[in-house]
Amino acid sequence: MKFLTTRRRHKAAKPLLLVFAFLLMGAFYTAFAPLPQVAADNGTSEQVAAGKNLFAVTCSSCHGLNGEGTQQGPSLVGVGSAAVDFQMSTGRMPMARPGAQAPRRVNTYTAEEISQLAAYVATLGPGPSIPNSSAYDYANLTDEDLARGGELFRTNCSACHNASGAGGALPEGKYAPPLHGVEPLHIYEAVRTGPQQMPVFSAGAIPDKDLASIIGYLKTLESGPTGGFTLGSIGPVTEGFFAWVIGIGGLSLFAVWIASRGARAR
Ligand code: HEC
Ligand code: HEC
Repeated sequence: MKFLTTRRRHKAAKPLLLVFAFLLMGAFYTAFAPLPQVAADNGTSEQVAAGKNLFAVTCSSCHGLNGEGTQQGPSLVGVGSAAVDFQMSTGRMPMARPGAQAPRRVNTYTAEEISQLAAYVATLGPGPSIPNSSAYDYANLTDEDLARGGELFRTNCSACHNASGAGGALPEGKYAPPLHGVEPLHIYEAVRTGPQQMPVFSAGAIPDKDLASIIGYLKTLESGPTGGFTLGSIGPVTEGFFAWVIGIGGLSLFAVWIASRGARAR
């Protein structure tokens, strides 16, 4: 209580208040940061109906009213929900304009809209579906698994994507994109659905366990030989929190410190 009654506050009060404010902002950021998308696969009939409507508006001009395909776009019969989730989550679809290849862009559709479209397209014919996260979980891989993942990557993928996953050019203005920073879910879906020039690798060719090893290997490439402080690689939430509290908070404390020094000098 002495703290409140004395007129002069403790020297550390302001900086402490700042630290507290930034902790609070960090907490807010963490609470409102977008959660990873969880897509339900076998859609309900409402989902399918909503997806069909959305499809008629956004996709049918190229893929046909019933996904049968047109001159502008291929048939989507049998591509499965995984293809829709991959193409839309990576911003490739709906394609903005015809070109050699639909480039990766920022996706502007909600997770719900994507699941609706995925559920609808899945009804057109059997195809690879959006996996459970357990299918591509690479957290518990041994060093041996990762080494095997590297071997599989060099055998099956590096011809197009480069041994370090940096990507590469293909004939006719096409290219295999770099694989750094691609979500594990989207790696899984790309491998199972084979977008564009990329072949489809079924579970017969690359079982889930091996695919998880490839994903794990790609993730070790990312944290890679350059090293760096990964913050445990728990993702953008921790990193944002860290930036707010330590980064901006630290800068403000520094500013306060400079100000107090300056005042004393005068
Ligand atoms: C401007 C035309 C155009 C529009 C609009 C469009 N697409 Fe496509 N889509 C294409 C073309 C062309 C391809 C094949 C080339 C490619 O993948 O880059 C394709 C490929 C796809 C594939 C991959 C098929 C496969 O074999 O794996 C999916 C899935 C897909 N589109 C879904 C959609 C959905 C869903 C929408 C609506 C939200 C949509 N597309 C809107 C032109 C279009
Ligand atoms: C014949 C060449 C080829 C091979 C082999 C190949 N890919 Fe691809 N890959 C491509 C092309 C081309 C694309 C881009 C497709 C598009 O943009 O529609 C692609 C896209 C991808 C993407 C999406 C990246 C992004 O930015 O969204 C991933 C992930 C991927 N490939 C992983 C793999 C893995 C893992 C393997 C091996 C199991 C593999 N690829 C083998 C050509 C290939």
